[in-house]
Amino acid sequence: MMLIDYLRQFVTELPMHMPGHKRNLRFFPFLKDVGGALDITEIKGMDNLHAPTGIIKETMDLATNLWGAKTLIGVNGSTGCLHAVILALIKAGDTVLVARNAHVSVYNALRLVKARVIVLDVAVDPDSGIIASVQSEQICNVLLKYPEVKLVIITSPTYEGVISDIQAIADTVHNFGAKLLVDEAHGSHLGICSNRQKNAIQSGADVVVHSLHKTLPSLTQTALLHVNDLSLFDDVAEKMDMLQTTSPSYLFLASIDACVRLLLTEGERLFAFWQQELGCFYHSASNLLNLKVPYVNSSSNFYALDLSKIVIGGRRKEKIGSFLTQKLRHHGIEPEMMAVFYTLCLSSIGDERKGYDQLFYALQLIDKELPVKNNLLKNLFQKPPSMGIIEPFEEGMNKISVLLEAAQGKPAAETVYVYPPGVPVLIPGVWVSREAIDYIKQAQEQGLQVIFSNGTPQGKIRIFEKK
Ligand SMILES: Cc1ncc(COP(=O)(O)O)c(C=O)c1O
Repeated sequence: MMLIDYLRQFVTELPMHMPGHKRNLRFFPFLKDVGGALDITEIKGMDNLHAPTGIIKETMDLATNLWGAKTLIGVNGSTGCLHAVILALIKAGDTVLVARNAHVSVYNALRLVKARVIVLDVAVDPDSGIIASVQSEQICNVLLKYPEVKLVIITSPTYEGVISDIQAIADTVHNFGAKLLVDEAHGSHLGICSNRQKNAIQSGADVVVHSLHKTLPSLTQTALLHVNDLSLFDDVAEKMDMLQTTSPSYLFLASIDACVRLLLTEGERLFAFWQQELGCFYHSASNLLNLKVPYVNSSSNFYALDLSKIVIGGRRKEKIGSFLTQKLRHHGIEPEMMAVFYTLCLSSIGDERKGYDQLFYALQLIDKELPVKNNLLKNLFQKPPSMGIIEPFEEGMNKISVLLEAAQGKPAAETVYVYPPGVPVLIPGVWVSREAIDYIKQAQEQGLQVIFSNGTPQGKIRIFEKK
């Protein structure tokens, strides 16, 4: 039975238990809008995420069938799943290799476990300014130099849909006796139903993390953790158990369950429709004169591209991300992400033809307003500043707040990242370079949201100094 039907059955009884709102919509009408009518807790019959044997186990088994690796449910997004995997596989002092464009949650978890982190710079595609695929040869070179690496972490696809050759990377990593974790937060739709693009599980990664909520019809915060290498399962499951709330939202669980069942029963049809409509959209958009959609050209810098992420840029490579975003908003369209040179819109099986039409119509009008003058800046694509090797750093240190300019040459004591995509510019223990300061300033000037993890006042940053 679907978990949501289970909930419907149980909510008819008098709840002399949590939650405190008692599903009393008469007293608390706001509950209607937040799904409170079905909000329940782990009473008898509702199974338990921490020891699933009933309806929650059924959902996990269905997900295991669909993705083909043993699956755990995450109710704190990919963030929570990535933390669990890293805490399970790495202990203090272990060496981990991370591709530079990893999400902030990966760096945070590595900091928590006090890992030694080798950060692998990833090339930027000179044609678009978008971070390229990670090459297996790059991984091989680092592993030859640092055979002590225990875990390699790759993000694929990226926010912009750049996919790496996970199969080749997995083979390389396994040859060196290390494990491969793929952050496939943006790719839970890959490799299933009629999406023929292989996913990281099919390509041999040991553990793969999915944000269901990012690309599939499931509530925000819902995620899945797939363990391909079963020798890791118990340790990973233990850390999920330790890190996740003992009161998972049944609304989240029900939405994961419904999403997985939908994909199993209707997925082929929904994906085929999506691909057809998206294909028509791209076909029309290819005729735009000044805008380039998709902005990214297939090239040797990209192993593969996930075109469900609609990257919109200018044919002349101008800094039009902010302009485009504002214009799209003016047309009632809210994009996913604004970057300096482009804007990103996400499509999914939830989009209807009228949505694609609205987007195309808006782009047609915007196309006529280009070119935008005075912002032509060729070959100035920025890549996130290098980080090198980060050793655990914090013992015996104080944190002080200084002006950003004064931090040059000092070790950062907080994480600074542009959001979205949430790839850090700096993390604690990395020396603040001129390049990093300029990167932060330029991102701020372009109107991107730069987050300082300590909430440091504008213009300042926390750094370490000796006690
Ligand atoms: C590459 C990547 N990994 C992990 C995450 C974290 O995912 P969640 O928001 O589901 O915790 C994000 C979020 O944007 C992301 O972009």
